[in-house]
Amino acid sequence: MGTQKNIAAVTGASRGLGLIMTREFLAAGDTVFALVRNEGTALSLLLRQFPQNLTIIPCDVGSTESVVKAAAETALRTDHLDMLINNAGVNLDLGHAVDFTQTDFDEMEKTFNVNTAGVMRVVKAFDFLLKEGSWSFAVSSSAGSISRNPSTEVEIAYRVSKAALNMAFRLYSNTVRKRKVGTLLIDPGWMRTDMGGPGASCDPEENGRLIVGLLKSAGALGGETLFVDFHGKEVPW
Ligand SMILES: NC(=O)c1ccc[n+]([C@@H]2O[C@H](COP(=O)([O-])OP(=O)(O)OC[C@H]3O[C@@H](n4cnc5c(N)ncnc54)[C@H](OP(=O)(O)O)[C@@H]3O)[C@@H](O)[C@H]2O)c1
Repeated sequence: MGTQKNIAAVTGASRGLGLIMTREFLAAGDTVFALVRNEGTALSLLLRQFPQNLTIIPCDVGSTESVVKAAAETALRTDHLDMLINNAGVNLDLGHAVDFTQTDFDEMEKTFNVNTAGVMRVVKAFDFLLKEGSWSFAVSSSAGSISRNPSTEVEIAYRVSKAALNMAFRLYSNTVRKRKVGTLLIDPGWMRTDMGGPGASCDPEENGRLIVGLLKSAGALGGETLFVDFHGKEVPW
């Protein structure tokens, strides 16, 4: 993708990493479809700054109806996407750092519906906009890496949803690779967003910049690499 101008769609662009990536793309002259459940003031302000290059489209990744509608609305304005960025996510375990004995497994499907099925819903609905040379990305987490969690006990629903996302995205990759659509799962690092909290080790602005750079040069990673951190280093499954 290099220095060419890109057309990108970003889920969960209302705040946190999604908003930062949206801002980065716009500052570089790229076009962004911000796919959001709630627009929020930060994105409204950005729209005033970049009225030509930013389009805000309602999209709740937890609802097939909403995602299909968002894809149709996007297709009214572009015939393709260079990048589809699945960033929206929830950690409903936050603040309930409990092990399996206290976890409510009836609640687990809510997390799974956004973090796992939500991504797959989006890639399915937007697939017709991905052409040869397009890229499809998903923001995963090292929390979903089985080998990186040798002794963790808590936030079970979140970790399981990201591990399941990794497998679902691998299977999806195997299909779209045949038509030369690139794919990558990204661990964005522990960032000081609403989700990561104030004690997190990474500045989200810095990681957002690094991640946008990584997405734009993803071709350099080679076709076999699928799960990387924000520096482009492979993360073990
Ligand atoms: N922060 C970290 O330390 C960290 C670490 C590893 C991985 N990640 C991953 O990085 C991604 C971004 O996280 P973040 O830290 O930026 O989180 P965040 O600050 O909590 O923001 C989450 C974003 O996802 C959106 N979202 C949630 N549910 C949605 C739904 N059903 N439909 C559409 N949008 C929805 C939110 O929209 P609303 O404003 O409408 O709620 C918000 O824009 C997530 O996938 C997360 O799992 C984060």
